[in-house]
Amino acid sequence: MEERVVTNRKLEEDTFEKTIRPDSIDEYIGQKDVKENLKVFIEASKMRDESLDHVLLYGPPGLGKTTLAYIIANELGTNIKTASGPTIEKSGDLAAILSTLEPGDVLFIDEIHRMPRYIEEILYPAMEDFTLDIIVGGEGSSRNIKIDLPPFTLVGATTRAGDLTSPLRDRFGIIAKLNYYTVEELVTILKRTSRVMEVEIEDDAALELAKRSRGTPRIANRLFKRVRDFALVLGNGNVDLEITKTSLDRLKVDESGLDDTDHQLLLTIINKFNGGPVGLEAVAASIGEEVTTIEDVYEPYLLQTGFMKRTPRGRVVTELAYKHFNITKDGSLF
Ligand SMILES: Nc1ncnc2c1ncn2[C@@H]1O[C@H](COP(=O)(O)OP(=O)(O)O)[C@@H](O)[C@H]1O
Ligand SMILES: [Mg+2]
Repeated sequence: MEERVVTNRKLEEDTFEKTIRPDSIDEYIGQKDVKENLKVFIEASKMRDESLDHVLLYGPPGLGKTTLAYIIANELGTNIKTASGPTIEKSGDLAAILSTLEPGDVLFIDEIHRMPRYIEEILYPAMEDFTLDIIVGGEGSSRNIKIDLPPFTLVGATTRAGDLTSPLRDRFGIIAKLNYYTVEELVTILKRTSRVMEVEIEDDAALELAKRSRGTPRIANRLFKRVRDFALVLGNGNVDLEITKTSLDRLKVDESGLDDTDHQLLLTIINKFNGGPVGLEAVAASIGEEVTTIEDVYEPYLLQTGFMKRTPRGRVVTELAYKHFNITKDGSLF
């Protein structure tokens, strides 16, 4: 599958994210409730001179989980050590990371729902009592040893909070859900990116970009970067409304942030299944995709924006989608 320009997954080209990432909580746009609460908890932990409670961040890709983890460490004034769920394979891997922690440090585990179960079990006492229980030796001579760890804060990030086991979830004192951003918030983020990248963007251009970015900062910043290239080569370097529209049309991202894949999915349901309800299996077979790909990648944004609905009898394309394509339910043009 060719990678879509509107994917919320992190791409190779997104390496510039590090440079445009805000590093203090006040520079972090939106997510007001999460931010205000975190500020209080961080402040309180500093006043008490204790480590911050463990934090679980969840929400779709590209909404700022990793960014927030780094900000938490910055605001606490501690180091951050990072790991990713699927890459911690052996208990020794986790023990090695844990043993580098200094008092108050943040341990960030990305994609924490993909951590193997036996690794998770080592994490329980580490989170609860700051101890590491490991088995050393093997074959007949193995024994348990307990190692004291300094107090630390585990920050876990996941796109699927439902996939976390409850014993793990229960060990987080602070659970924060990140939501899709409003168009206004994305405009603010784009303005900030423009300052950091030192590329001018006009107000109406930023608004246009924001509208087509699927509520997701990662996508907004990526599209901005592409538009900047078009502006440089086809225009005078300024990111104005006209060049923005031209570029996004060429990238095949429409006014609602939908791309060809979204169009294909919606139009298949409209044309072949009379708008639904239709089972995902039938849709998948019809467009030659895996059911899980549709569920995890294609449909979340369509459901979130109301172009499509989930019903007990299958997926249904909404009025909004028909309007979007300028067609009525019987197939004629509006
Ligand atoms: N609240 C925010 N304010 C400003 N920029 C943000 C915000 N959230 C995300 N970003 C930008 O979007 C990019 C992707 O965010 P990231 O933290 O990597 O998302 P996630 O870890 O949830 O996939 C970051 O590099 C950052 O530039
Ligand atoms: Mg991340």
